Amino acid sequence: MGQVMGPKMQDRLILGQCLFYDADPRLAGPSGLRHSVRGAVLIRDGIITGVGEADDLRRAHPQADLTDHGNHLLLPGFVDAHTHYPQTAIIASWGKRLIDWLNTYTFPEETRFDDAAYAAEIAARYFDLTLANGTTTVASYATIHPASVDAYFAEAQRRGLRALTGKTCMDRNAPEGLRDTAQSAYDDSARLLAHWHGQGRLSYVITPRFSPTSSPEQLEALGALWAEHPSCLMQTHISEQVDEIAWVKSLYPDARDYLDTYEAHGLLGANGVYGHAIHLEPREVDRLAEVGAAVVHCPTSNTFIGSGLFDMGLADRMRVGLATDTGGGSSFSMLRTMAAAYEVAQLRGVALHPAELIWRATAGSAEALRLDHKIGSLKPGIEADLCVLDLASTPAIAQRAERAEDIWEALFPTIMMGDDRAVAQVYVAGEPVTP
Ligand code: GUN
Ligand code: ZN
Repeated sequence: MGQVMGPKMQDRLILGQCLFYDADPRLAGPSGLRHSVRGAVLIRDGIITGVGEADDLRRAHPQADLTDHGNHLLLPGFVDAHTHYPQTAIIASWGKRLIDWLNTYTFPEETRFDDAAYAAEIAARYFDLTLANGTTTVASYATIHPASVDAYFAEAQRRGLRALTGKTCMDRNAPEGLRDTAQSAYDDSARLLAHWHGQGRLSYVITPRFSPTSSPEQLEALGALWAEHPSCLMQTHISEQVDEIAWVKSLYPDARDYLDTYEAHGLLGANGVYGHAIHLEPREVDRLAEVGAAVVHCPTSNTFIGSGLFDMGLADRMRVGLATDTGGGSSFSMLRTMAAAYEVAQLRGVALHPAELIWRATAGSAEALRLDHKIGSLKPGIEADLCVLDLASTPAIAQRAERAEDIWEALFPTIMMGDDRAVAQVYVAGEPVTP
């Protein structure tokens, strides 16, 4: 007798316009991204196994389960490289700049995350919102409460998402109920890391909030933890507002500059991800580039909180991710974030090409998070997290896109004016999701 065969593994073939990435468009120009008017992505077991022309792949895989998105554009799911899921409910809070904004809105809200049920409710709401916006991977800060990390990872795991977070450590300059200690920050982070890091698609990120809310002892303890787990990412904030930088100088009088407060405590390295990085001094730029660190541009936050204009020229020297920074950022959407990045660059006299914007919101952020071998592009071997964009999602966008003569003219109106209505479908690990 023959062997009993298991169910045949079902291939999924998804058709639409596609953008395939051959090279970083900042270095290679827009032709680093290849457009197919009638392309396809073949998926098996949650992984992309083939990409190319729809006709070719259909002929080669006649049994595949077919989904045709017509004129819609297939992209990798967006990757949001810096966000604060616990700030979901206080997004768009009026009238403050960074330090006042933290004290007035953010810290009181984060205090509520000692309640595990509340953390779970907000984590679910947050992933509903990010998925509706086509974002399939988020690197979030949690709060000081270990339960806020558990809630986020449990929700991401339930949805099969690749996701990153870490307990946000603070032992000073934060209110009662929102402070840990150097020792408890180390112990809680170590325990959470051991439990979650590498479980399925989840990665733990060592997370000192920023130098003003950590004592030198706490930075030292987290530097020691990072040295024990060098393959982990470490995320923090740097040089977001001028007042903040002055405060850091007063708290760390011996430091050469803001970056030095991290370096002196073992928190500068190639797996470091530094959010904002607006007002860097030349030495700091040189040093970040020298060690191979990444920075993350959060443009809706930088305009909303009034922080300043990020210099995308940094991308010539280091990996630069793109992020919402919800809820300092004013949106959950990476489309709105690309629009803000475009406008911020314009204010600096630079017009970012749509190819660079799209690449940075996907592959660029994946690179910043050292995940470009897993997510962020439509390539064989990459996990099949996809975002399908309708390039005519509103009358205003449709009438503009109608005049387009190439894919960039067709896509740019959606970048500048699009939102969750432009997200026609999302796939997570090859499966369609309805947020
Ligand atoms: N710096 C330290 N904490 C935060 C935060 O939660 N949001 C922003 N935008 N900047 C910060
Ligand atoms: Zn932030």
